[in-house]
Amino acid sequence: MARSAILNVMVEAALKAGRGLTRDFGEVENLQVSVKGPGDFVSAADRQAEKTIASLLRKARPGYAMLLEESGAIKGEDSQHRWIVDPLDGTTNFLHSNPFFCISIALESQGIVVAGVIYNPVTDELFTAERGQGAFLNDRRLRVSGRRNLTDCLVCTGIPHRGKKGHSTFMLQQQEVMNVAAGTRAMGSAALSLAYVAAGRYDAYWEDGLSPWDVAAGLLMVREAGGYVSDYSDRDKMFDNGEIVSGNDRIHASLLKTIRQS
Ligand code: IPD
Ligand code: CA
Ligand code: CA
Repeated sequence: MARSAILNVMVEAALKAGRGLTRDFGEVENLQVSVKGPGDFVSAADRQAEKTIASLLRKARPGYAMLLEESGAIKGEDSQHRWIVDPLDGTTNFLHSNPFFCISIALESQGIVVAGVIYNPVTDELFTAERGQGAFLNDRRLRVSGRRNLTDCLVCTGIPHRGKKGHSTFMLQQQEVMNVAAGTRAMGSAALSLAYVAAGRYDAYWEDGLSPWDVAAGLLMVREAGGYVSDYSDRDKMFDNGEIVSGNDRIHASLLKTIRQS
């Protein structure tokens, strides 16, 4: 699979930041036993990963705007292009020495996501996608699952943490999905969950309360693997309202109907 020059830059940034996160992940395991825990250490690791990524992206395309989870929005001379970066998605997992986390980097051109990289440095799984070029896992082409009935499906979601809004709505949605689907899972990284939908490891995924950096690369990944992504009103407003539903065409429609019933 031939990658474009810009996707290569994104991959290089993810791999470099991934090396740092892997080192830090090893240290987090040692810090579990301390009374204070690894909280401050993880915040520093998160910020360092973002710094590494931002500096490589800036070097390659100095004028592009940026939306970085930790540093916020940075204007660029070229406002038509924007990097959207989550340097560590799945922070709570990372903090608990749970290896389900990733780096997510997306490139937007005129408001459309055109390239995405999602990388789990622990498993060394690199998910890449470019608009119109397909989605890949370590260079193997991805397809969303082909299941046609929600009753056969393994459905992924995100459980709102303490302090986040929407606990009762989530419980109702979960109840409805639980009654229909073969199983539900919540893995704690929105970006990696979407990559897993692209890889057919989950048949579908829904969650709300998300930010653009959680979903930008993942939504392209699913679409380029032949799947559907929308908000809860079946529109393309995920960055505005933080809602996301994804799966193959039929399962996307069934899941949307199911969660709307709640
Ligand atoms: C979080 C993860 C989690 C989702 C949260 C996000 P973070 O991102 O994606 O799965 O449920 O809403 O904030 O904080 O680990 O980057
Ligand atoms: Ca995130
Ligand atoms: Ca994050």
